[in-house]
Amino acid sequence: MIFFNNTGILNSHKPDESNPSHLRCVRCLNPFRWLEVNNDGQVTPCCNTWFKGHLGSIRDQSLEEIWNGPPFRALRKAMYEGGEWEKFCNKETCPQIINDIWVPIDQISPETHDLLPITQPLLDHIRAGKTEMSIGPVQIGLSCDPRCNLRCIMCFATHNPNRDGTLIRKALHGMESFLPGVKRIKMLGDGEVFAIPETRDFLLSFDSKSYPETSFLIHTNGILLTPGMWKKLSHLKIDTLVISIDAATKETYEKIRIGGKWEILMQNMEFLLARYREGLIREFLISMTVMKANHREIRAFAEMGKRLGVTLAFFSPIYGDWAREQIFDRRDIPCLKRISEQLRHPIMKESFIDTSAMSMWRDFTPSLADYKIIARCALRGIKNRLSF
Ligand SMILES: C[S@@+](CC[C@H](N)C(=O)[O-])C[C@H]1O[C@@H](n2cnc3c(N)ncnc32)[C@H](O)[C@@H]1O
Ligand code: SF4
Ligand code: SF4
Repeated sequence: MIFFNNTGILNSHKPDESNPSHLRCVRCLNPFRWLEVNNDGQVTPCCNTWFKGHLGSIRDQSLEEIWNGPPFRALRKAMYEGGEWEKFCNKETCPQIINDIWVPIDQISPETHDLLPITQPLLDHIRAGKTEMSIGPVQIGLSCDPRCNLRCIMCFATHNPNRDGTLIRKALHGMESFLPGVKRIKMLGDGEVFAIPETRDFLLSFDSKSYPETSFLIHTNGILLTPGMWKKLSHLKIDTLVISIDAATKETYEKIRIGGKWEILMQNMEFLLARYREGLIREFLISMTVMKANHREIRAFAEMGKRLGVTLAFFSPIYGDWAREQIFDRRDIPCLKRISEQLRHPIMKESFIDTSAMSMWRDFTPSLADYKIIARCALRGIKNRLSF
């Protein structure tokens, strides 16, 4: 059986290898179609918080060398049935693994709705069992410049000292050789695309006539994406706009997104949503990184998404050790119970909501293992204090 979950990801049952007529599957399409450059120049086949390690660095290799280098090919081999994908993929953070999604390769086509484009040459490679690609990535993501107009309380970018633009210039230059085949450019997973001169200029001067197949996924805090900026971007094909909001109220927003102004964001959103309704933006997403400061506003955020009429409102847990804000790794039980209660609210089942990255907290009831984690964290805290 094949079906779509509410993220639009193609979903199927795990292949039953003992049945000779079972559907042929791969664990994931991304290693065959996505190349992401991360904040230290390291390349991954998807979001770096889902992936263990990396597949090379643009500091010492070109993007072309990395794309078909031994690590990328070993990863692709691991995606086929019987492959050792566990060596590469983080089962605690990757939604594909958390939700046990397998991709039935003979049942999908370029028309299949998915979060990333599927093309016929891509399918031909996978159906032939290839690990070396004679085509380039379908999506290139850039997450390698921390410069930003905000200083959000949970964001690693605010602590990254590499702010001279060397990596982003290298990545933008390296991407050119792939350009005619790239269907979507995703910017920026780290830093703010409209605050960094190089990425802003890249968008403003992108030659859409020479690359009519290339569209953009813009991930932004939305503050600098004003009507004036939109006008300058009118030559671009905007496939997806993702606006990170992280709150349902002005008070919480301005506590988390330091430097952001709720009224400005809402004005820009209103303008951009009107462009979405006109069909100038294919998908309009809003996101909430759930942490202590905003965990009571999950349901209100979903209701706000409904009121605004977005394509998708998605939720992800905070990642990394952010002391008080890190309620998941530290098993803050009162917070996790409140989260679980909100995730079980009927609105969370609506098709415009994606809580797939939060699914392990939906039916949370504390177990002995959770109390052991709490005890370990407390012990670590005491040790740290004593060592000062
Ligand atoms: C780093 S930002 C870069 C794009 C843009 N500046 C923005 O805020 O949307 C990309 C996403 O990472 C999320 N993020 C930041 N710090 C995080 C953390 N510690 N754990 C999980 N997500 C985080 C943000 O909320 C945002 O949705
Ligand atoms: S970490 Fe997840 S998205 Fe990345 S390659 Fe593995 S299964 Fe695919
Ligand atoms: S706006 Fe984005 S990049 Fe900037 S500090 Fe916030 S989360 Fe980080």
